[in-house]
Amino acid sequence: MEDPGHPRTGGRGIDAAEKSADKGRSGEPLRLLERAIDTLRDGVLITDARRPDNPIVYANSAFERITGYPVTHVQGRNCRFLQCPETDPDQLAVVRECVRTGTNCRVELLNARRDGTRFWNELSVSAVRDVDDHLTHFIGILSDVSTRHEEQARAATWQRVFEQTGFGLVQVDPIREVFTAVNPAFALEHGYSADELTGASVAYVYPPERLGELRHKNEIAALEGHASFESEHLRKDGTRFPVQIDVTIIRDPAGRPISRIAYVRDITQRKTAEGEIRAARHFTEEVLENSNHGMIVYDLDLRVVACNRFIERYFGITRESAIGRTIFELFPGIDSYSQDMYFERALRGETVAARLPRIHVKGSSRIYPPGGNPDGERREDVIWAMPTYAPHRDSQGNIAGVIVAIADVTELKRTQDELAASNDQLHRLTAHLEQVREEERKRIAREIHDELGSTITSIRMHLEAARGALHAALGHPHGLLLAHDQP
Ligand SMILES: Cc1cc2nc3c(=O)[nH]c(=O)nc-3n(C[C@H](O)[C@H](O)[C@H](O)COP(=O)(O)O)c2cc1C
Repeated sequence: MEDPGHPRTGGRGIDAAEKSADKGRSGEPLRLLERAIDTLRDGVLITDARRPDNPIVYANSAFERITGYPVTHVQGRNCRFLQCPETDPDQLAVVRECVRTGTNCRVELLNARRDGTRFWNELSVSAVRDVDDHLTHFIGILSDVSTRHEEQARAATWQRVFEQTGFGLVQVDPIREVFTAVNPAFALEHGYSADELTGASVAYVYPPERLGELRHKNEIAALEGHASFESEHLRKDGTRFPVQIDVTIIRDPAGRPISRIAYVRDITQRKTAEGEIRAARHFTEEVLENSNHGMIVYDLDLRVVACNRFIERYFGITRESAIGRTIFELFPGIDSYSQDMYFERALRGETVAARLPRIHVKGSSRIYPPGGNPDGERREDVIWAMPTYAPHRDSQGNIAGVIVAIADVTELKRTQDELAASNDQLHRLTAHLEQVREEERKRIAREIHDELGSTITSIRMHLEAARGALHAALGHPHGLLLAHDQP
């Protein structure tokens, strides 16, 4: 809004009255000065301290460029139209005081451009006095320091990250091999204060025998810009702990390395967990390897994801060659009978044992259906394998395939066969014995009968002879009655 009492008189708005007064004295240099001011990068404002509310009487081109307000629009107004709700009242109080007392100041204000966007204004205000030392004007120099502010804000954010982050961060001077910055997390992990380590040699935190390795890794980082490795660090109290280190080389615009930033993490827990996992894996492998059962784990496409050495001994396939192959590639003939059914049931979550054992020849992976072995099931090298199918679940408990456990039941089968054969023999023997005993019984009975008959006959004959003799001796056929002759 223009001040009607002070019309613009050309140029950038210095009052006509003042201009003509000056013109009389030194018009040419003044015009030159105005043109020079107009070429500046910074905004320049002149306010008239003698008029009410200190209105703008001059603004250069840079002011227009910085704020977006045309000079015509601002002349005659107080500069406060540039302020926004976020403008710091403390900084404004400084300017107010300077205007009141006719002194100089320098402040940083958040201002609003004509389009509403914000910018940081580094404002210097200087009081101008006439020859009688009366305050006449103020000159304001406005610098748009938004970029510097953003950078400062970013730097402050990074500084906070450095200070507050939970993992160890250090900056190292690659020439002198000393810490130039140490964050509290790194210092704490090592039992020092950040101040104690800042400026100290990197060797403070390394066991002496690890320094060679560190040098080597830093050489790699220098070549490749980055290196990541595990090492060991020393605490102030002499104890050691395993660390994961990530080194990045920071270069200047010309590409020269100026510092090394290292991110250091205590990996004691990870190492312990790794050790436990290794022990658990070793245990599982040991159990599996020494098991007399074959173990094959298939994924959903029925490809082998793991198996134990059993299959090498029994099927003549190396474990390495088995991994990744499908069950059908691995065991020719397997799809010729109801294999699918068992897999489907296992994939539905059931654990199911095959009804009959599978037959194959030792050292070969061809599998024959029960009763379908063309080489004859009684061969010496025939193996009877009884599979059990169970779902293979991933760590979330989802079914991810099938575990097949194969029990070698050859011995059992042989014993069973032998048992059946001896049972059979026993049956036959029992029947034979029964027959022999019957015949013997009959023979004995017959012999007893015959022998008894002839004995009775001979007794009878003896008795007859005795009776005859008795009759003859008594001379009377009825002189002596024998008991059994009595009626
Ligand atoms: C020469 C001069 C230039 C000024 N430039 C600005 C400016 O660019 N932005 C701003 O917010 N205030 C600026 N001010 C401050 C305001 O004009 C005013 O002094 C401030 O708002 C405090 O006074 P008030 O409480 O009356 O508003 C300037 C002041 C002077 C004297």
